[in-house]
Amino acid sequence: MEKPWSGRFKEETDKFVEEFTESVSFDRRLALEDIEGDIAHVKTLQKAGVLTREEAEKLIKELENLRKEIISGKFEWKKELEDVHMNIEAELINRLGNLGRKLHTARSRNDQVATDEKLFLKKKLREVQSLLKRLRVTLVNLAEKTVDFVMPAYTHLQRAQPVRVAHYFLAYREIFLKDAERISDLYRRLDELPLGSGAVAGVDFPLDRFFTARELNFNRLTKNSIYATAERDFIAETLFVLALIGQHLSRLAEDLIIWNTEEFGFVDLPDKLCTGSSIMPQKKNPDVLELIRGKTGRLYGNLVSLLTTLKALPMAYNRDLQEDKEPLFDSLDTIVSSLEGMIKVLEGLSIREHRLKEASGNFLLITDLANYLVEKGVPFRTAHHIAGSIVAYLIEKGKLLEEITLEELKQFSEHFEEDVFKILKPEVSADRKKVYGGTAKEEVLRQIEVAKTEEGL
Ligand code: ARG
Repeated sequence: MEKPWSGRFKEETDKFVEEFTESVSFDRRLALEDIEGDIAHVKTLQKAGVLTREEAEKLIKELENLRKEIISGKFEWKKELEDVHMNIEAELINRLGNLGRKLHTARSRNDQVATDEKLFLKKKLREVQSLLKRLRVTLVNLAEKTVDFVMPAYTHLQRAQPVRVAHYFLAYREIFLKDAERISDLYRRLDELPLGSGAVAGVDFPLDRFFTARELNFNRLTKNSIYATAERDFIAETLFVLALIGQHLSRLAEDLIIWNTEEFGFVDLPDKLCTGSSIMPQKKNPDVLELIRGKTGRLYGNLVSLLTTLKALPMAYNRDLQEDKEPLFDSLDTIVSSLEGMIKVLEGLSIREHRLKEASGNFLLITDLANYLVEKGVPFRTAHHIAGSIVAYLIEKGKLLEEITLEELKQFSEHFEEDVFKILKPEVSADRKKVYGGTAKEEVLRQIEVAKTEEGL
């Protein structure tokens, strides 16, 4: 098969080299973006006087035929033609002869591939954004259902203080909102058209790049042709943000896995989202969550893989850059399926409120005891020490904080009065945190309202 670049060569390409260098087996995912770019390029060439109107129309018509064949799966991809760009161009030449040979005027695969990738990513990131939004809405719905319940918040995986269950879900909503902001932010940088940069130096023909950008819905143009063809930071940034989303999903997955254990029993996962054991009949395993957690590994790996490829690459384009695609596709697919999985799990989650409440008393209220003394005029450090001694005392006696009497409390400080028992309740403890961003019911309700407005609910 004759290659579009075969003019300079006297020997056939070695079979190994064909296999080793090909990218069409994976970059054909960019086929529709490649055609989109081809059509915009044809129009730009016509505007520049390189193609006549008839020529442009014929080329566009055939490109549209190819698009249909690619969508229906009829198009035949050939490894000998290396990549998605040359496969499409070669088929166009096959069908239109010399006219097809005009398509690649004033263009290089270097500006072409960067353009395809940006077109592809712009679309795909919108899909990630809409999944992130669905996840946040699911979290807000859960928050609305759980505002009346308290649970222990943990620090160091030790029970720390009671919080409204809704407060926990809103924390994750906040985290995934920041992820969405990161995507919008990188999207702005990504939204620049490389086409017209050629191989590295720009092109010889008077292409109206602003016109091409409008045709392809790019907001701006890349401002330097070397930069445009050499950089893949927009992919590195994407891989970073996807890795971060993976990290967030893994933490949420981990919490739910722990909460779903018999020991915690805070939540119950729906049967249809769990799998069984082939040997232990009693098992109901949270495999979806475990895989979401586990897939964080490949998301990090993909990021490190591209960063390493990019390190110390001489300016400008080098074939190394072809190694950007598999990590990118893999991270995008991984995040899309993990987000879908997490949404499903959260939608089917049953929360066992009584278990959460049971775990929210006793020593979680010790800090409230210290704050009670502070309100009576005791300095916080002293109050903290007194409350700590009470913990030690109760542990020694094998008693719960709820069981302590006023007489016993008075042994530690004369400031304790009957009213102390009013504060020794998880809900009361939570509701004292009225500070902006705190866990008091009225504050959480306000936060839910803000979240609903921001999500357009
Ligand atoms: N398949 C190549 C890539 O993904 C396309 C660009 C090739 N350019 C070149 N001059 N060999 O990077």
